[in-house]
Amino acid sequence: MIDFKTEIANAIANELTEIPKDDIYGMIEVPQDSKLGDYAFPCFRLAKIMRKAPPLIAQDIAGKLAGNALFEEVRQVNAYVNFFMNKKAVIGETIAAALDKDGFGRSDEGSGKTIVIDFSSPNIAKPFHIGHIRSTVIGNSIYKLYDALGYSVVRTNHLGDYGTQFGKMICAYRHWGNDADIERDPIRTLLSYYTRFHEEAKMDPSLDEEARKTFYDLEHGGEDEVRLWKWFSELSMREFNRVYDLLGIEFDAYDGESMYTGMMQRHIDDLVSKGLLVESEGANVVMLDEFNMPPAIITKSDGSSVYCTRDIATAVYRKETYDFYKNLYVVASQQSLYFKQLWKVLEKMGYEWAKDCVHIPFGMVSLEGGQTLSTRKGNVVFLEDVLNEAIDKTREIIKEKNPDASQEMIDETAKVVGVGAVVFNELSNSKIKDYEFRWDQVLNFDGETGPYVQYTHARCASVLRKAGGGVVAAASKAIAGGDSDAVDYSYLTGGSAYELVKLIYAFPGIVKEAAEKYEPSIVTRHIVDIAQSYNKFYHDEHILTSDEKEQTAKVALTIAARNTIATGLGLLGVKAPERM
Ligand code: ARG
Repeated sequence: MIDFKTEIANAIANELTEIPKDDIYGMIEVPQDSKLGDYAFPCFRLAKIMRKAPPLIAQDIAGKLAGNALFEEVRQVNAYVNFFMNKKAVIGETIAAALDKDGFGRSDEGSGKTIVIDFSSPNIAKPFHIGHIRSTVIGNSIYKLYDALGYSVVRTNHLGDYGTQFGKMICAYRHWGNDADIERDPIRTLLSYYTRFHEEAKMDPSLDEEARKTFYDLEHGGEDEVRLWKWFSELSMREFNRVYDLLGIEFDAYDGESMYTGMMQRHIDDLVSKGLLVESEGANVVMLDEFNMPPAIITKSDGSSVYCTRDIATAVYRKETYDFYKNLYVVASQQSLYFKQLWKVLEKMGYEWAKDCVHIPFGMVSLEGGQTLSTRKGNVVFLEDVLNEAIDKTREIIKEKNPDASQEMIDETAKVVGVGAVVFNELSNSKIKDYEFRWDQVLNFDGETGPYVQYTHARCASVLRKAGGGVVAAASKAIAGGDSDAVDYSYLTGGSAYELVKLIYAFPGIVKEAAEKYEPSIVTRHIVDIAQSYNKFYHDEHILTSDEKEQTAKVALTIAARNTIATGLGLLGVKAPERM
């Protein structure tokens, strides 16, 4: 697809040899008010170099570019040159590009580079609660964005399957455990033991001591401890996998913390030999004073490892295994300081690639009424329950809207729309913001929601069904062949059609921006805009008119809108239903 901004930069560079083309490109703006054109070039900064008043420079450039066929008009307004693109060129380029459903928005800029992304990473024997949805859903979308840009992306699930909490869990089980209860409802039951452990330990501190000893035994291969730990892990994975299946999310590796325990000694030795490990209050730490950070604890007084020790081993393993270009961690903002410390420790160890490690933080979710999510208090909403509730609620709405639909269609659609609604809602907010989970916002079919965008996709699909396969095939062929006789884009230069075209044109840039900023909500917002714009076009215009040429052009735009919405939803990890 022609990049009009680059074309403008080229055209200006031909006239203004005083300034490098890249600088010119960087100066081009998109005016707030589209009446001022599609792009604008401000000339203020040129006054000094060219010893001329900015409006005169603008006038000069405008005059020289007036004849260029790419532009409908090039106009000087004060110190600006305003560019109005040739609408038919924009429409033709955009619709042809969006016809390629699988290719639109994709590029190969990342080819040959590997990105490792650590996301979801729930903790064994703890619930996969609604707070985890953030890491899971944001991480999956960032994976899809980079995959679309041609990177080879390794999705890794850093399961929390190791640490002192397993000492507590095993103790709690030994005191109060009942196997039948656990088999029936594993995580909820284990969680209730864990909660009880914390309550009883408040009154009886010897429990904490017992838990510490149990973890020590686990770390040193105690037979019964290892057996229980494995059992808890298996039961937990079974539950996590049910959620991943519902969400349609996969991983390339489930390398949990336990995998790295065997690799830690090498790094502890390395820290010692480099003189980085010092004793402080009984623990072994790396001092980070020079960065104004608290020390990073590497081993506790009894020699046992901590989260950070395992993360050092993890990062080195990822570099050695994947030779990553970037190593991403999608983890809650509570761990921001922790990751800053981790990068500094790696840097002090001499790993220059520490600069390629990125923490992608996100804010917290609260529930309606301001309840918080805390595992310890046992006050937890399970993600699986939320997804199932979304599916149930959606089933009712779909039934109401489609009284004649078959049960099978209703069930299938309820799943796609219900799960999609939760995921879309999650990705609607800028990721760093805390937000409140509210059902009326998640499932609103008319708001800026997943169901609304999916509904618009189904509407496009329905328009194309009504147009008929023959018409759609003919339009596709005409677009692909650039046959301006068969598909006349002058029907699309009017208000709402052209606004829609411009949004579709912007889509590949949006994908790039969202990836660069690790911010899927940029895509979410853009496809809401496209959906709203398509609906306006749908209401303003007769798409299936008796005028064959006009109909072909409008069908072409509908194909482009449908493809862009489907691709955009796909990048969020949301399905695009044909009917709703
Ligand atoms: N399991 C951790 C938690 O729930 C997240 C792990 C993130 N990944 C990492 N390599 N530290 O807080």
